[in-house]
Amino acid sequence: MSYPYQIKSFEQYQEAYKQSVNDPGKFWGDIAEHFTWRKKWDKVLDWNFTQPKIEWFAGGKLNITENCLDRHLATLSDKPAIIWESNNPEEKTRIVTYERLHKRVCQFAQVLKNNGVKKGDRVCIYMGMIPELAYAVLACARIGAIHSVIFGGFSAQSIADRLDDAKAEFIVTCDGAYRGGKDIPLKSVIDDALIGNKVVKRVIVYTRTRTPVSMLKGRDVWWEDEMTKVTDTLPVEEFGKAEEMDAEDPLFVLYTSGSTGKPKGVVHTCAGYMVWTNYTFVNVFQYQPGQVHFCTADIGWITGHSYIIYGPLSAGATSLMFEGIPTWPDAGRFWDIVQKYKVNILYTAPTAIRSLMGFGEEPLQGKDLSSLQVLGTVGEPINEEAWHWYDEHIGKKNCPVVDTWWQTETGGVLISNLAGVTPAKPSWATLPLPGVQPVLVDEKGQEVTEKDEDGYYKGNLCLKAPWPGILRTTYGDHERCRTNYFATYENLYFTGDGALRDEQGFYRITGRVDDVLNVSGHRIGTAEVENAINMHAGVVESAVVGYPHDIKGQGIYAYVIYSGKPDVDDLAKKDILATVSRIIGPIAKPDKVQFVSGLPKTRSGKIMRRILRKIAEGETGSLGDTSTLLDPAVVEEIRNGRL
Ligand code: PRX
Repeated sequence: MSYPYQIKSFEQYQEAYKQSVNDPGKFWGDIAEHFTWRKKWDKVLDWNFTQPKIEWFAGGKLNITENCLDRHLATLSDKPAIIWESNNPEEKTRIVTYERLHKRVCQFAQVLKNNGVKKGDRVCIYMGMIPELAYAVLACARIGAIHSVIFGGFSAQSIADRLDDAKAEFIVTCDGAYRGGKDIPLKSVIDDALIGNKVVKRVIVYTRTRTPVSMLKGRDVWWEDEMTKVTDTLPVEEFGKAEEMDAEDPLFVLYTSGSTGKPKGVVHTCAGYMVWTNYTFVNVFQYQPGQVHFCTADIGWITGHSYIIYGPLSAGATSLMFEGIPTWPDAGRFWDIVQKYKVNILYTAPTAIRSLMGFGEEPLQGKDLSSLQVLGTVGEPINEEAWHWYDEHIGKKNCPVVDTWWQTETGGVLISNLAGVTPAKPSWATLPLPGVQPVLVDEKGQEVTEKDEDGYYKGNLCLKAPWPGILRTTYGDHERCRTNYFATYENLYFTGDGALRDEQGFYRITGRVDDVLNVSGHRIGTAEVENAINMHAGVVESAVVGYPHDIKGQGIYAYVIYSGKPDVDDLAKKDILATVSRIIGPIAKPDKVQFVSGLPKTRSGKIMRRILRKIAEGETGSLGDTSTLLDPAVVEEIRNGRL
C-alpha cells in the first residue's frame, strides 16, 4: 500500500493545513478518493454546531471492513494483519494474516447473522485482548451491526447500565480473560449483569481460560460451535458479503464518562471515522509498509479501536495486539515484546512510562530495542521527566516522540507532532492536524488574545469546525450530545480540557477543566464515583476530587461523611472501596478516603470542590475566599485530617 496523502515535510504540513481550512470539501474529498467505495459521496461536508448536525461524505456507500480487509487481499494476503502476544510469555504467538483475518471476520459475521443479529442492532463485546475480539468487532462492522465494546475491567453494574442504554440484544464474551497474574471471569460478570435483563437474546462465549461457566439454555452458545456450523455449511464466498452502509450509518458506540450522570454512548459513523483514523495513523506515526505497530491500549478504549484495529488495518499495516500488562511477569515485558517482534512503532500511555521508569534501567538490560523508529504517547499530559526517559532510554534519542492529544469523541488524534516531520517539544502536543481548528476561549467563550505572565495564551480548548472523525451524537439522546459539547460556547465544540498556546502556535494540554478525572489515562467522572460511594449503606454524603499522583497522573481523593464508626480496622474504608468496585469497576476505586464530619458548602448547598481540590493537593497556604461557606470551620477540620 502507498499513502499519497502522507505528509513528508514541514512545508507540506503547512500547505496541507492551509488547504484543509480553506477548502475542506476539496481537501477531504481528494483524500477519500484513496478508499474503496461502493458509491461515491454526493457532498463532502454539511454541518452546523447548533443542532449539532455533522455529515461527512453524505450519500456515499461503503463498508469499512472492505477497506480494512478485502482491498488488501490482492497484495497483502499473506502479510500479518495482527500479531498476537499472549499474556503468558510461553504461549505460542498467533499470526493472523490478512487472508486469515478476512476469513475469520466473514465467518463470525455469518455466526452473528445465524444468531439473529441484523444491521443496526447493538452488539455488546466484553472480551479480553485476543484476536477473536478483533474478529467480533470487524464482524459487526461487516454486517452493519453497531458494536459497543466494554473494557474487561468494568463491573456487572456498569455493563448492565450500558446494555440498557444501548438496548443491546446481543453479547459476545469469553469464559474469562488473563491479565497479568489474574484470571478475570468475564462470563460470570456478564451473568450478573443480565440478572433481570429481558432484552438480551443471545450471548456468544469464546473459550479462553477454561474457567467454569454456566451456560443458560436458549440464551448462551459457544463461539466454537457456532463457527463450526458456518464452515460446515457454507463456502466462504457465501458468507463473505459485506453489508452496504451509508457513510453516516453508525459504526459503533463507545461509552465514556462525563462530568454529570452516567457514561454516555459516543457514536461514530462509518466513512468519516474510517478516513480520520487512517489519515491520522499514516501521518502521525509516519507508518511505512512492513512496519510493526504496537499500540498497548486495550480495545475497550477508543485508542484500541482507532490504533489497533481501524487505523492500522485500513492502512494494510501490521498491528501487534498484546493480551497482558506491562509489569507481568516482570517490568521488562514491553521490551521483550519489542525485541521479539522487532517493533517499529510503540504507542503507549504516560502512566505506563512512569510506572516502568520506576523500575529503573534493570528491566532494559540486554533488551534489543534497535528496531524502534517512532514512539508515541496518549491519554494524559506527559510530564517532562517521563518524556525524556522515554526519549533517552527507549528511543535512544533516535526516535521521534509524538505526544498525541485526542478524545473518545474525536475518533482520532487532533493535536500532535508528525513523527520526524514536524517539531517535537517535551510535554507539548504541539500542532493541530490538517482539518483541526483549535481555539482557546475564556469562561465567557471569548477568544483569548492576551498572553499570561509566562508568555502563553491560556484558556479552554475548543474546536471551531468539524473534522471527519468527530462524534455525531450520543446514543439515544442527541440533546445530551448538544448540551455536553456544543452548548457551553456558541458555535464551538468544547473539549473539557484546558490548554496553553505558545508563540509558535504549539499547544500544551494542561488537563480537564470540568469534573472529570483522568486516572492512568482513564476517564472517570467525579459524580459517577460519588454516586457509587453513596450506594454504601453507611455513607451519608461524599465528594470526590483528583490530586496529582506520581504514576497515575491523577489519583482519586474521596471525602466521606459516614454514619457509623469509620475507624474500626479500616473496615468502613474497605467496604466503600468494594462498593465502588462493584458499582463501576476497580479502576474507579479512590486512592484516599478521608472521613469528615461535614463538607464545605455554599449557603445554597453547593459543594465547593475548589477548596477540596486544594486540600487534596496539599495546599498549605490560602484556600481562597471561604466567606460564602455555610460553615467555614469545617475547612480547617478537613485540612487537619488530610491523608
Ligand atoms: O484530558 C485529555 C486527556 O484525555 C482526555 C480524553 O480521554 P479519553 O476520551 O478517555 O481518550 C483517551 C485517549 C484518546 C482528554 O480530554 N488526554 C488525551 N491525550 C492527551 C491528554 N491530555 C494531555 N495530553 C495528551 N496527549
